[in-house]
Amino acid sequence: NIFGDDRLNSTAINIDIEAQWQPFSTAVAAFADHQWQAAPLPMTTTDVSAEIITVTAPYDRHEVVGEVTFASEVQVEEAISRAENAFDDWSASAASVRCHYLSLLAEQLQQHQHELVALCHREAGKTIQDSIDEIREAVDFCRYYAQQAILRFESSQQITNYRGIEQQLRYQGRGVFVCISPWNFPLAIFIGQISAALAAGNTVVAKPAEQTSLIAYRAIELLLETGIPAGVIQLLPGRGANIGQQLLSDERITGVVFTGSTPTAQAINRTLAARECTPVPFIAETGGQNAMIVDSTALPEQVVRDVVRSAFASAGQRCSALRVLFVQADIADRVIELIKGAMAEIKVGRPELHRTDVGPVIDRAARNKLLTHIETLKNQAKLIAQTPLSAECQFGDFVPPTAFEISDITLLKQEHFGPILHVIRFKADALYQIIDQINHTGFGLTLAIHSRNERTYLDIEQRTHVGNCYINRDQVGAAVGVQPFGGQGLSGTGPKAGGPHYLYRFTQDCILPINN
Ligand code: NAD
Ligand code: ALA
Repeated sequence: NIFGDDRLNSTAINIDIEAQWQPFSTAVAAFADHQWQAAPLPMTTTDVSAEIITVTAPYDRHEVVGEVTFASEVQVEEAISRAENAFDDWSASAASVRCHYLSLLAEQLQQHQHELVALCHREAGKTIQDSIDEIREAVDFCRYYAQQAILRFESSQQITNYRGIEQQLRYQGRGVFVCISPWNFPLAIFIGQISAALAAGNTVVAKPAEQTSLIAYRAIELLLETGIPAGVIQLLPGRGANIGQQLLSDERITGVVFTGSTPTAQAINRTLAARECTPVPFIAETGGQNAMIVDSTALPEQVVRDVVRSAFASAGQRCSALRVLFVQADIADRVIELIKGAMAEIKVGRPELHRTDVGPVIDRAARNKLLTHIETLKNQAKLIAQTPLSAECQFGDFVPPTAFEISDITLLKQEHFGPILHVIRFKADALYQIIDQINHTGFGLTLAIHSRNERTYLDIEQRTHVGNCYINRDQVGAAVGVQPFGGQGLSGTGPKAGGPHYLYRFTQDCILPINN
């Protein structure tokens, strides 16, 4: 794989996929014809009027992967009631008891790795490497939040003032937490949100992205197999606008964690603001207009390796992905030449094949939006390179990795969520202007800086308003626990996922007498 492997950062699946490709891909291929089913889970009521959709593979729309029954209004109602009823016992249990189920889930995910990899590539179009990374991150979230919850919530904290007055501070779950997740990390973020909410003592109603309900369903089946009390977790596959609206309007929900696009977060914020009941915490993890700044001291070969990985790995469908490369004019020609060369090496194709670097995008709507952007830029900008699509891409939703040189970042009015790179040259004396331009997008998710001048990169880092800043490396693949992830401004509310402050937002704290 041209983009490399992050396995050293993970607690899970420590195999060298290059060396063990044959046995691994053979085990995954056992699920090549498998058909999965998904529906609301666990559920006692059935609803014959519920919408059923057929899921096809993003790399070949003739290939059926399974069938999903979306939750109906009655089932949403049942899920909230069950989660509410389960809350008191779950919240009263010790953090270590709750977290035991997360440790078991981590084991389950690893044991079923071949099936989950098959599901990730067949339903979400992820390459095998990206699919393995999905499972690793999901396992890491389970283990990290379990460890954090035990550390922070197992016992109450003693608070003593200068007069010797003592109280105890205890953290507890808030109630029913709604977890709304995107398709681009269909297992990692889906499980990350749920494991955080559960570890903190909440019960959960989870609404996965409609494009990846099968992955979500299988993950919840595995969680239920751990023996976790069934009322504690409810899965509601369905369309965001329908189920989301019903869930968010219900006064029994006590918190919302959302990962997805900025416009959806804004819509959810409006719905929550319009409720005439108790305000609830809203954690939003949203999109970015992520930049990389490269000055003339940078090493062009290293820059290009990191540009290509940041912009095109996962078909550019990472919130952290590089969208705008600012390169100092003195080395711009050299860097652009190398980008052309590297893009000629990228292999776009079926995600289960060893040679594939870039698979399809998630669906036809995403593909059409990205192709429209490419067509628009052909009239407004200079095409640097476009990686050709092979014949095997003809039945899927593929977008060719494409790089343009553009004059100005204001040309980009929104996040373009796919394998499209925009390059802008800047003169050395315009550095502060481009920092202003980046800040003025309003987004603030990731930034990479390539420079061998320490004063320059520290100065840039201080002046830019971003959640995750990387120096002399790529800007994707934040590792749970060591690179807590999340943005500022239009990119999110914080706290950072996979970081030490995340779980607190899922709790409320109360003060009790010391002997309680
Ligand atoms: P999306 O906003 O379209 O959907 C996300 C989720 O919201 C889905 O489950 C969807 O069904 C639901 N939804 C849609 N409308 C809703 C509504 N009105 N009420 C309630 N729920 C609703 O996003 P997507 O296309 O699934 O994901 C890609 C986006 O996610 C990109 O913008 C990407 O940058 C962002 N993202 C951010 C992070 C981060 O950590 N900051 C991580 C991954 C993805
Ligand atoms: N955590 C993911 C990354 O860093 C979004 O790419």
